[in-house]
Amino acid sequence: MRKTLALAAFAALATLATTLPVAAPAVAEEDPRTLIDLPPDVRVAFLEHMRTHMTSLDTVVQHVAAGQFGEAGTVARREMAIGQGLGFGRYMPPEFREMGFEYHRTADDFAKIAAAMPAEPTSADWKKLVAGLSEITMRCNGCHGAFRVR
Ligand code: HEC
Repeated sequence: MRKTLALAAFAALATLATTLPVAAPAVAEEDPRTLIDLPPDVRVAFLEHMRTHMTSLDTVVQHVAAGQFGEAGTVARREMAIGQGLGFGRYMPPEFREMGFEYHRTADDFAKIAAAMPAEPTSADWKKLVAGLSEITMRCNGCHGAFRVR
């Protein structure tokens, strides 16, 4: 009895589903990110530079995974902690520059933590290292949520 009821309910639902109008495709929400207008050549150079950040971050994580803490710190300092002097800052609003500065600072903090890692890290050392890394990725993510370029 129960089974028949359940079957009947299922059949009814199935019919309903096929007769219901197809939901209208979701309208894309307005992009809440602040748009930064860049001269085309600057935009190309900026995005290219951004892709190097992805590579740097990956290199740092690969070194961490291999227990090569010194190398992880060196890459973070050389490629992420210091602005590369490419002059994008002058096109950017102050909030962007502030976030960029914060990003460089967290990379510098991470480089220090990595440099101080003992050869045989305790779980507390690992925790500190990964927390330092997460401070960096939080800055990547925060800025990407706030700005876009054109
Ligand atoms: C201060 C701001 C800021 C920080 C910090 C930042 N980015 Fe970006 N990034 C941007 C903006 C703005 C774009 C362009 C997004 C858009 O227009 O949709 C971008 C684009 C990118 C792109 C796409 C490039 C392309 O060719 O389209 C990658 C990859 C990227 N960022 C990686 C990173 C990584 C990894 C980090 C951190 C290690 C990082 N970014 C930190 C602002 C930032």
